Amino acid sequence: MDIFHIEGPVRLSGSVSINGSKNASLPIMAAAILAPGESSLKSVPHLSDISVCGKLLSQLGCKLTREPDGDLRIDSTVIDNPVGEYEIVRRMRAGICILGPLLARCGRAEVSMPGGCAIGDRPVNLHIRGLQELGAQIHLKNGYIIAEAPNGLRGKDIFMGGPFGSTVLGTANVLMAATLAKGRTVIESAACEPEITDLANCLNKMGARITGIGSPRLIIEGVKELQPVEFKVIPDRIEAGTFMVAAAITEGELRLQNCRLDDMMAVVDRLRNIGVTVDAEGDGCLVTRTGPIKPADITTQPYPGFPTDLQAQFMALLSLTDGNSVIIEKVFPDRFMHVAELNRMAANLRKEGPVVIVAGVKKLIAAPVMASDLRASAALVLAGLAAEGSTTIQRVYHIDRGYERIEKRLNPAGAKITRESV
Ligand code: EPZ
Repeated sequence: MDIFHIEGPVRLSGSVSINGSKNASLPIMAAAILAPGESSLKSVPHLSDISVCGKLLSQLGCKLTREPDGDLRIDSTVIDNPVGEYEIVRRMRAGICILGPLLARCGRAEVSMPGGCAIGDRPVNLHIRGLQELGAQIHLKNGYIIAEAPNGLRGKDIFMGGPFGSTVLGTANVLMAATLAKGRTVIESAACEPEITDLANCLNKMGARITGIGSPRLIIEGVKELQPVEFKVIPDRIEAGTFMVAAAITEGELRLQNCRLDDMMAVVDRLRNIGVTVDAEGDGCLVTRTGPIKPADITTQPYPGFPTDLQAQFMALLSLTDGNSVIIEKVFPDRFMHVAELNRMAANLRKEGPVVIVAGVKKLIAAPVMASDLRASAALVLAGLAAEGSTTIQRVYHIDRGYERIEKRLNPAGAKITRESV
């Protein structure tokens, strides 16, 4: 239960290297289940969600090792317990993405139904329907999804869209299962997020036959088996976006290394529109803010739209413009736990259903606040950097789920963040 003390306001100036993507790493770790043997993954970040995922794979029978060079080795030669326990899946919802690979490899899987979380209900009906379309028998028992396909899965044309568009982990689950199904699967309305592209590229390197990668129509020709793989995970576009906002909100200048602007067009476009300079440079970019920034309207959408995972951070930034901004959340309509906390720091935010009206204020004022979920907490850190005085953030473990030692990364660039272990 660590606490952050953040002294503000500061002006950040320096460089930060972006880590491998958490949300690409999690399904790619699950993909190792599909190929008996030892896979080796590079650039998997050191985060608590990754450790929880490792624990889940260990319970199945896999052996995980972190090499001195940081590579993560997953030996999936033996999988003798195809069960994703409630105790783990309730801590990390992404645990659901072992369902498809386990079913494809073992013909059976039991995975706890994930519960709701701070960002909303988060159902898994589309995951279940997609796997049923591939021929799995699925029922619920004692809070567990029991999926069976003793005679293997069969390829099919599947529509994966839901009321909020595509599903990222749902697409990952069905895609992974389909690689070992008999025949051809078409996933229509597939998620196009770069993390799904990375997963598909990794699966192809393992011997899968996937085309249409990066588009909403994935075509998978089933193969008999996959081989273990060596694969490097893409940089984390959400971490990069968070640090871009850190530069902008502090009127600073940050050089981001290992950052793929191509994956972040909607974010970079918004930043440039409000008056922040983002210049491609080497394997990353330079983000500079020299003057006032303008208000903006932002609507979150599945990729390539503006990512929901940066909505909270942009709300903190837009709080400090001269005018009104409108933020509409179209992926997780209840993802606004940060609104009340930012208002405690003298922001002027009014929520109406899935919409927040951001009335710009001249300054934010430090306050004790509570981290509630990963990205909401990141927004509080950003607000704390810009606010006058000493902000205290409780429940820092939420931040640690997605940002590796954020204070060690930002302090060399001028942030004043102290971690207190309680
Ligand atoms: C992934 O979650 C990410 N998690 C989330 O990042 C991210 O916010 C989200 O995609 C959207 O980009 C990981 O990759 C580990 P979805 P996921 O299924 O896949 C509805 C972070 O901060 N839906 O794409 O679980 C759902 O309720 C996290 O790093 C159904 O209706 O999200 C939502 O409204 C948090 N039925 C929408 O679809 C389903 O079966 C998109 O959710 C599944 C989803």
